[in-house]
Parts: sequence; structure tokens; C-alpha cells
Amino acid sequence: MTERKKLTLPALFQKVAAGQQLTMLTCYDYPTANFQEEAGVDMILVGDSLGMTMLGYESTLPVTMEDMIRHTQAVRRGSPTSWLIGDMPYMAYQPSVETAIRNAGRFMAETACDGIKLEGGREMADRMAGVVAAGIPVMGHLGLTPQSAASLGGFRVQGRGALQAKRIAEDAKILEETGAYAILLEMVPDRLCQLITQRASGCIIIGLGSGPHAHGQLLIYHDMFGLFPRFRPRMAKVFGDAGRVILDGLQKYVQEVSDRTFPKPENWFGMPDDEYEELLRLLK
Ligand code: KIV
Repeated sequence: MTERKKLTLPALFQKVAAGQQLTMLTCYDYPTANFQEEAGVDMILVGDSLGMTMLGYESTLPVTMEDMIRHTQAVRRGSPTSWLIGDMPYMAYQPSVETAIRNAGRFMAETACDGIKLEGGREMADRMAGVVAAGIPVMGHLGLTPQSAASLGGFRVQGRGALQAKRIAEDAKILEETGAYAILLEMVPDRLCQLITQRASGCIIIGLGSGPHAHGQLLIYHDMFGLFPRFRPRMAKVFGDAGRVILDGLQKYVQEVSDRTFPKPENWFGMPDDEYEELLRLLK
């Protein structure tokens, strides 16, 4: 296990000030959190993408606070020192400022996460300001925001045209002014991400499929390791085909049990002859 000190907000800002890139991945379970802790990942997002990657839903919309809390607790147990972010699920903050504060507070109190993330620009600024005022670190999320995929025309790049790009850049400033310590930019053009990063002051910009100019990069864990069979987005580099390794292993298991080459003596436990004889006698 690593001996890393707990990552704090000042530590994240120091890394950015020193020109170091931040690493950020999604994570939804204890064993994966152990690996990410060991690898030294800075920031972990328990994304509501778990609805698709872990629970098999068609979208993130059915995910509940209870789902998020259960998974975030497991990740915290596996990664005690990362900067851990809980993703506010659909309708956990949209209805009102009070709903947002209550659910963000629940996340912090029940999971020991370090902050929360919520999606949306100027239209969510009051929710974000309310949560910040409650003393909870907030990461914003602009560009492709999956909870609004229906109104954005699907899972597609946002801000290719100047007008939409201007709105996203303005939203980034608004979120910064509400006190967001970080903003995730998902699937916006590289030059827009670069502009927003250059204009940011006191706000960490993390990119997902938005080019190399942000202060850090987020990837979805399941995309990195070929663990989500339904699609492989272009922005996700496959860093290792764990899905293939697992499938090969499962096929071997089925084969070896079927042809009786598993288990072997090293996989079972014997019993001394005298105890066995005694057992037969006792059973008579
Ligand atoms: O839920 C999630 O994993 C996210 C990413 C798509 C950024 O919000």
C-alpha cells in the first residue's frame, strides 16, 4: 500500500500552480478503489455513470441517492487518501436550492467524500452557490452533461459553433463566481477548453474528451479497460483490455469445469485417513 498523505484542496491547487497535471478517474467499487489508491490517482469521481457501467441502465437518469451513497462509501473504504467526489444524481439538486443542499450534505455526512459534482451552467448557479455556502466543495460540469442528453441532442460534442462556445465559456465564469473550486469540461473542442483554462482564476479545469490543455484529465474507468461492452467512445483510450482477460478466464473456467480438469488437488482440502475411517464408523 502507498503511504500517500490525504489529498486536500490546497494540495490540488499546489499541484496545478506547480504546472503538474491532475489525474482523475471514475470508480464505483472497493477493489477498483484499492487499485486507484495504489496507482496514486489524485481525484476519484463516483459518477452517476455507475447507472450504466455497474447497474446496466440505458442512461444515468434512474440512479438514486441511495445507489450513489452505497458505491461512494465502498470507494472511500478502498481509497482513503484520494480527493473523492460524489456525483449528484438526476433530480437530487434540480428541484430547489434546499434539495441540493440537503443531498450534498447527505453525501458528505454518509460517505466521507470530499466534495460533490453537479451538472449545468447558469441555470444551476443558485443550487451551486447554496451548496458552496453550506461549506461543501463543488465541482461544476459543462459541455456534454449526460443528465440533459435528451435536450442536448444526445451524447455529442458541445460548443463547436461560436455562439454555443461563448455560452459555455460564460457559464464557466459564472460557476467560478459561485465558488466552484473546479469545473469538468466534457466533450468540448480542445480550443474552447484551452480558452476556459487560460481564463480560469482560482478554479481547476478538468477535461474529458476536451483536449490536452486542461489542468487535469478524467477518464471513465470502464472505458479505459474495455469493461463496458455497449460502446467505446472515441475520447477513451483503452489502457489495457481487462474485459478480454476476464472473458478469456471465464471461458477457461467453463471449459475446465465441463471437462473435469478443475478442480485439482491443490484446490481442495483433504482429510486424514483415520478421521475418515472414524467418520464412516460414526455414520453406520
Ligand atoms: O457520471 C459520470 O461518470 C460523469 C462523467 C461522465 C463525467 O459525470
